[in-house]
Amino acid sequence: MTPGSTLANLTALWAARDCAGVTEVVASDMAHLSIAKAAHILGLKLRQIPTTPTGAMIEDALPSDLSRSALVLTAGTTSTGAIDPLALGGRAAWTHVDAAWAGPMRLTRLSDRLDGIEKADSVAVSAHKWFFQPKESALVFFKDVEKAHAAISMGGTYLAVPNVGILGSHGAMAIPLLATLMAWGREGMAERIERCLDVAESIAKLVNDDPRLELLAWPVTGVVNWRPKDTSVFDAWHQALPEALVSTTTLRGDRWFRNAVANPMANPLAISEAMKCVPL
Ligand SMILES: Cc1ncc(COP(=O)(O)O)c(C=O)c1O
Repeated sequence: MTPGSTLANLTALWAARDCAGVTEVVASDMAHLSIAKAAHILGLKLRQIPTTPTGAMIEDALPSDLSRSALVLTAGTTSTGAIDPLALGGRAAWTHVDAAWAGPMRLTRLSDRLDGIEKADSVAVSAHKWFFQPKESALVFFKDVEKAHAAISMGGTYLAVPNVGILGSHGAMAIPLLATLMAWGREGMAERIERCLDVAESIAKLVNDDPRLELLAWPVTGVVNWRPKDTSVFDAWHQALPEALVSTTTLRGDRWFRNAVANPMANPLAISEAMKCVPL
């Protein structure tokens, strides 16, 4: 476990560099900025691959030779929740899936949306997103745990056991996640994620049914992007909508509202109520 997916991604790419001898990180231009940070820290070149209008990596734009590359595929991009083509796993010297947002969907009835993730050499998942944990809780999984741990472990004469990964001292960060899993079970966890997905679909439907609004795409991982068709009223809407109801993101120069549904108790009607108050 790591305190967040920024460190989970860095840890995974550290293992990629030292296990597979990669010299570059190949990721989409919608990958989270933690990937660029990790490449920078690890002294790896970063090559960015263009994306579709809804934010998934364009497979045909990948370089043919990935023999010295760590290919990073995102499962649930930060801006739009898009899933990169996970079937690409295994094509590069190392494949890392940044599943910070959508990884837990693998436990749900929509698990097949993440098919291909099993081909990855490493996977990062935030527990403080769809495992409903307090912030600073993430997991990094390795296909070959022994090899990866050997690459990212360092010992010292003053240590009883080597440090595995970046952290030295750390708290018992697995306890809240363990407690949650014991209380809810795998099914309870899945059921809450499915409720989030349902809320996202209700928001998308609400947007589709309102002639004033435009939906970017039907949500696949619980992230909904929408905006007024008349984009000149975007700022007025932003001011009128209750704080924390939506965030915003910019895609190809255009601003969109964004709902990343992380609260299974969220009420989509709150959005429709709020919309009654915004200027036409
Ligand atoms: C896809 C993705 N990767 C990585 C991160 C970084 O996670 P953290 O904020 O836990 O460091 C985020 C956070 O939003 C994310 O959405």
